[in-house]
Amino acid sequence: MNDGMNRRDFLKAASLAGVATGIGAQSIVAEGLLVGTKTAAVKPVVISSANGLAATAKAMEMIKNGADALDAVVAGVNIVEDDPNDNSVGYGGLPNEEGVVELDSSVMHGPSGRGGAVAAIRNIKNPSKVAKLVMERSDHVLIVGEGALRFAKSHGFKEEDLLTDESRKLWLEWKEKLSTEDDWLPPHDIESKDIGENLKKWLRVTGTINCNGLDLKGNVSGVTTTSGLAWKIPGRVGDSPILGAGLYVDNSVGAAGSTGRGEANLLSCSSVMIVEYMRQGKGPEEACLMACKRISEQTKMKRLLDDNNRPNFNVNFYAINVKGEFGGASIWSGSRYAVNTGEAQSRIMECAYLYKRSR
Ligand code: GLY
Repeated sequence: MNDGMNRRDFLKAASLAGVATGIGAQSIVAEGLLVGTKTAAVKPVVISSANGLAATAKAMEMIKNGADALDAVVAGVNIVEDDPNDNSVGYGGLPNEEGVVELDSSVMHGPSGRGGAVAAIRNIKNPSKVAKLVMERSDHVLIVGEGALRFAKSHGFKEEDLLTDESRKLWLEWKEKLSTEDDWLPPHDIESKDIGENLKKWLRVTGTINCNGLDLKGNVSGVTTTSGLAWKIPGRVGDSPILGAGLYVDNSVGAAGSTGRGEANLLSCSSVMIVEYMRQGKGPEEACLMACKRISEQTKMKRLLDDNNRPNFNVNFYAINVKGEFGGASIWSGSRYAVNTGEAQSRIMECAYLYKRSR
């Protein structure tokens, strides 16, 4: 120990800095004083929503070759953004009520404590790359709509029509059956039940992909990217681009992110909550489950509750910590996640859950 700091002081300083000792290879700085360096081997891990089998495998391959976790997870989710068959993200994503695909994405880079995001950006296939550029090449954290598109184009992104034949046909089918099945609500109160039919009649789980990684240097980063809720009111922004809600990273603790009904998560900012629960010592799965419980308790509007007063929607969380532990949880059973701890192929795991689906 330098500067007269004994082992007890060192451990106290490390704990004040919120750092689990003996993990990773990053420096521990308390009150401006370099007091130690973590040297033990890191257990790299990449976690994502269940649509990220290829994404997590790609990210882990890059991490094993020495990549920074953020470069790795963004390269991973780019596979899903580019995939026309995943209609929850990027190219082929389901459009808003006017038939236009609008995308949201955020990134957070643990070692530099920075983040970037774009919301309601149109015609750009890889919003996660634009979110990363917002972080790296602007003094802002969140740029939306037309401004986000212009920012992307200034950096050489090309505008593309993101509707595939399949997503256009799905939109047309919804439009043709419109009637009550949209997101506009008449005046209502906490007791109103028979409104918001769109929520019930259409499969509104858009998928999204959240992907978080711990790299060989012990650094944590994450990304969330989505085309958002299908048939949404134009300009609707979900939880994915909101740091603290759809994604949060603290390099001394871990990372968490979400998929599912963004409106519910926006009201609880669960990703930052999960990171804080982990800081207090909870494991990733337990922390995710606690966030699900909080959302369930916070849901008061009858139109959003089933006959047993449980949410009639789902939200899923995925988290890792700096020890390389991981976990996921959902409000309802049946959700899964993809994880890779260094293997060539990722595996699918079941999320913990609050309520068991009856079918
Ligand atoms: N969680 C994605 C969204 O609601 O847009």
